[in-house]
Amino acid sequence: MDVQGLISHRARSLDASGIRRAFERSARLFDPINLSIGQPDFEVPEAMREVVKSAIDEGQNGYTMTQGADAPIALLQAHLRHDVGWNIPSENTDVLLTAGTTGAITLAFMALLNEGDEAIIPDPYFVVYPALAELVGGKAVCVDTYPDFRMTAARVEPLITERTKLVMVNSPGNPSGVVLSEAELIELEELCRDRGVVLISDEIYDAFTYSDGLENGQFPTPARRTEEMLLIRGMGKTYGCTGWRLGYAAGPKVLIDEMAKLQQYTFVCAPSIVQASMSAIASVDLRPYIDAYEKKRDMVVQALSPYTNLTHPSGAFYAFVEVPPELGETASQFADRAMEDNVIVIPGHIFSQRDTHFRVSFAIDDERLAKGLEILQRHLKSRTGHPAS
Ligand SMILES: Cc1ncc(COP(=O)(O)O)c(C=O)c1O
Repeated sequence: MDVQGLISHRARSLDASGIRRAFERSARLFDPINLSIGQPDFEVPEAMREVVKSAIDEGQNGYTMTQGADAPIALLQAHLRHDVGWNIPSENTDVLLTAGTTGAITLAFMALLNEGDEAIIPDPYFVVYPALAELVGGKAVCVDTYPDFRMTAARVEPLITERTKLVMVNSPGNPSGVVLSEAELIELEELCRDRGVVLISDEIYDAFTYSDGLENGQFPTPARRTEEMLLIRGMGKTYGCTGWRLGYAAGPKVLIDEMAKLQQYTFVCAPSIVQASMSAIASVDLRPYIDAYEKKRDMVVQALSPYTNLTHPSGAFYAFVEVPPELGETASQFADRAMEDNVIVIPGHIFSQRDTHFRVSFAIDDERLAKGLEILQRHLKSRTGHPAS
């Protein structure tokens, strides 16, 4: 049987070769300084691990309701009432627990996009956005946010057409770490409302917003302004448990109900034992982790900004660093050179239509981070990576 010949256009249309090639090449390195990792380097808080272990022993191993089990859903609703002031649950607004944040984005795109419909996404973007838009038959329309990586209403407005169904904003952003201000987010929200399109706010890095990204001590979100948007958040990055696959979507009940129906026929429910971990979240103090990551962010900015353009990351655990034009090379070429020196960074074309920047992740211990930054400094200074040249 010619299985290859049976593969769908849908599967074929996705090109993962760039990521796979980089992965295969880095796998050949011995003990590399890996500045490509998209998850925290700390252990999952003990209280959460204990609750999950007990959930297994207590037999919480079966399906839950598609929306989520009663207790975690009640906790989330209370959290949203407190954090963004939503009247939830209500006739108009509800929440759905999903299999990771990607699960929520998948369901939202499936629920909103018909064949040929357009999803406006930032460029640079989280790799899943354009791929998913295409997978469900829609089209990703990229907002060029270079060089400051701010997805403003002024940049989005000219791209809205009759086919636009949704605008995706991601703050703090992957790969840039840029945090949008509340004023910028409110303008975007007003634009979407005026033009009758859904604003989706992917806030997976909300907990990792550093002191200079906060406003009145709070993480800026359009959700404090309206319930008529789709708010997507996740637990994986926040608590260092990306493999547990837990996220949620909250917003208009008509949309949440459609997403729940689609979840019923695909993922079924978020993992039951992981849902249980939410009862421990209130006892977790993330402060020390966030303070430690803010220091790592400062290390990156101090080390690299004298040598190149580096848009200040006020959140997440990434910096998106320009390859100095005078080096006359693409980000892929730069990343290849860094790899020869045992440092892994991700070239910009993985996240963008351009290949001018590379992503540095600082979710790694301070000593290795310092070593990696020193090597990157050398490469930013010259094409040979040697100090003398
Ligand atoms: C902006 C953004 N959204 C969503 C995700 C996916 O998160 P999850 O692992 O919860 O599916 C990521 C992961 O890197 C991300 O960077």
